[in-house]
Amino acid sequence: MKTKILMVCLGNICRSPLAEGILKSKLDPDKYIVESCGTSNYHIGSKPDKRSINIGIKYGIDISNQRAAQFSIDDFEKYDYIYVMDNANYKDITQLSDDIKNRNKVKLILEELHPNDHLDVPDPYYGGEQGFEDVYQMLNKACNNIVIKLEKLS
Ligand code: 4NP
Repeated sequence: MKTKILMVCLGNICRSPLAEGILKSKLDPDKYIVESCGTSNYHIGSKPDKRSINIGIKYGIDISNQRAAQFSIDDFEKYDYIYVMDNANYKDITQLSDDIKNRNKVKLILEELHPNDHLDVPDPYYGGEQGFEDVYQMLNKACNNIVIKLEKLS
């Protein structure tokens, strides 16, 4: 059985599509499935934000085929690891389930870089290009650590 990882942000057009593309590029597709979604329904069916697509292209990652989806309760069962981009996402997702097994699957992605600091990947939507570069760099580092952790477990 493949290990399934879900990346979550608010709109599923800026941060989590990049997180999906970055982590996917570092893992064996025969062993892992990486997907993403948003807590909101704002952009269901949309392509990633052009600025996320462009920063992906800059680093050799094509996320243009992704389409935004919304988190559903069934995703707790479907995925082994659920990485959220910020504390608001964490609250929105965990409050959907009382089951401790489900809640324990949810983790702030930057905890993989700075444990116990509860840091957010800042939402770059209303900012400029630099915000997307910054998001890419932090997600890339966090994903490197996720790969190390997953390979140790396998
Ligand atoms: P994301 O960014 O959560 O990283 O996809 C956002 C995209 C859209 C909106 C907010 C954040 N919005 O309000 O439409």
